[in-house]
Amino acid sequence: MAVQFVMQIAFFLLLTYGLVEEASASSPAIAQPNCTDKCGNVKIPYPFGIGPNCYMAKRFEIVCNKTNFAAKAFLPSIGMEVMEINISDPYGTNTYSYYEPGLIRVKMPIISSSSCINQSSDGVDFSGTPYFFSSYRNKFVSVGCDNLVTMTGLDPMVVVGCKTDCNNQKLKDKQGTCSGFNCCQTTVPYGIQVLNVTFVNTHSCKHAFLAETQWLNKTDLSNGFLYLDYVPVVLEWTASYFTAFDFNEIRARHLDWDYTSYGAKYFYCLYGYEGNPYLLPGCQGKLQLPTPLIFLYAYI
Ligand SMILES: *[C@@H]1O[C@H](CO)[C@@H](O)[C@H](O)[C@H]1NC(C)=O
Ligand SMILES: *[C@@H]1O[C@H](CO)[C@@H](O)[C@H](O)[C@H]1NC(C)=O
Ligand SMILES: *[C@@H]1O[C@H](CO)[C@@H](O)[C@H](O)[C@H]1NC(C)=O
Ligand SMILES: *[C@@H]1O[C@H](CO)[C@@H](O)[C@H](O)[C@H]1NC(C)=O
Ligand SMILES: *[C@@H]1O[C@H](CO)[C@@H](O)[C@H](O)[C@H]1NC(C)=O
Ligand SMILES: *[C@@H]1O[C@H](CO)[C@@H](O)[C@H](O)[C@H]1NC(C)=O
Repeated sequence: MAVQFVMQIAFFLLLTYGLVEEASASSPAIAQPNCTDKCGNVKIPYPFGIGPNCYMAKRFEIVCNKTNFAAKAFLPSIGMEVMEINISDPYGTNTYSYYEPGLIRVKMPIISSSSCINQSSDGVDFSGTPYFFSSYRNKFVSVGCDNLVTMTGLDPMVVVGCKTDCNNQKLKDKQGTCSGFNCCQTTVPYGIQVLNVTFVNTHSCKHAFLAETQWLNKTDLSNGFLYLDYVPVVLEWTASYFTAFDFNEIRARHLDWDYTSYGAKYFYCLYGYEGNPYLLPGCQGKLQLPTPLIFLYAYI
């Protein structure tokens, strides 16, 4: 009799819990209430947002530029168009590393020397913003003969560079792999916010750019790329100066946090939870048994 009663409760709980889960799982909100969560094909999760009450801080404001044919998600704080925005998801299937914070993919212009037809600025400066070049996802590339190009980070001060050589036949045989002949590439250090390119020899047109490794791997650099308007670059975004959750909120939202190797903070959902840690009600459980039900099963 008692066992039957307990089983009925268990069945009832399972039923109601299952229904609630199904209802909430169908459309977990990614943006604040009454805020647009998309610009064209780009999903805009909070703390990013379109409109004054929709983003957490001005640094996360997105301007959706709509034309008849397309919509472009523009991030005014760095002056670039955004192609994708992801919240940190260390337990997801699509991650390189446990230690990645939130990521955005942006369109970044190629930097050209003064003797090029279309000369560009000498670099990019993100200082004072929550955006950093991803060391895991990008490579720095320099194109042109006898180039020595350096990349400087202001905080911390780092200088990296690579040297091209157009007289080395051994390197020429590896052409297309960007291994030193007319093209060289190097890794990007952690915590870089300033890219300042100095072309040592400016007699001819030189180019330098940062680009997503995944894109570089399937792009032939030996021709054509100079006419591209932009290349895809992955930036890390962090929440150090914008978000402070107290102990109760951290528990209620089922979130955790970590620091990047350069000391910036970011949040993510605990294992078994999904959603947006920055947005109320926080991360939601994926289909799991609630504690009282586990207890009842143990009793039976
Ligand atoms: C959303 O918009 C509706 C209709 O304009 C309004 O009644 C409601 O208060 C708004 N909710 C929030 C959270 O702003
Ligand atoms: C929006 O698009 C128009 C027309 O292409 C352009 O002039 C303007 O600079 C764009 N604004 C932003 C913020 O991208
Ligand atoms: C963002 O997340 C989606 C879905 O998990 C994934 O397909 C995509 O590769 C991620 N983007 C980056 C830049 O990691
Ligand atoms: C790059 O360095 C030069 C010389 O130090 C400086 O004038 C210029 O403003 C810097 N550019 C950026 C984007 O930091
Ligand atoms: C790109 O190619 C290099 C060398 O073949 C390889 O080690 C790396 O895993 C590739 N990266 C991506 C993101 O495809
Ligand atoms: C230079 O810029 C103009 C206008 O943006 C563009 O039409 C042209 O293709 C560019 N030339 C090169 C060599 O990139």
